[in-house]
Amino acid sequence: MKIKFKINGKETQVEAPPAWTLLKILREKLNLTGTKEGCGRGECGSCTVLIDKKPVNACLVLAGQIQGKEILTIEGVACEKLHPLQNSFIEEGAVQCGFCTPGMIMSALALLNENKKPALLEIKQAISGNLCRCTGYQKIIKAIKKAALKLN
Ligand code: FES
Ligand code: FES
Repeated sequence: MKIKFKINGKETQVEAPPAWTLLKILREKLNLTGTKEGCGRGECGSCTVLIDKKPVNACLVLAGQIQGKEILTIEGVACEKLHPLQNSFIEEGAVQCGFCTPGMIMSALALLNENKKPALLEIKQAISGNLCRCTGYQKIIKAIKKAALKLN
């Protein structure tokens, strides 16, 4: 099937089987490999992208569901420089193996776009679908808090 959508601000069109997931389209058709595949079944959040500004697991979205949508992946977050949220992750040491990081950033970005002063519980809820084996979450939470301060 032919699918037209906007990816990181650009109109695009791809041809893919209807059973392909958005994750597969991103990685195999568009070469956007920043979005990672962890579990492949909606449990780890490493494949999180934004569709029409809402965080979703790209491994659970089928080709037909992205028709006409606006998708943001980790590759579209930085403009000329890294986004303040990305810098905060670096500054706070919130990245270790980095596998969960793109998904974490996308979930945190969706939160900060809607809520400039999130409470601790709101931060925890926003990243509750993103698993991280390395950091123990404290540094990630600190980084998101720091980014919120920078963005205010
Ligand atoms: S790869 Fe999509 S949620 Fe784990
Ligand atoms: S930094 Fe390794 S899984 Fe999160």
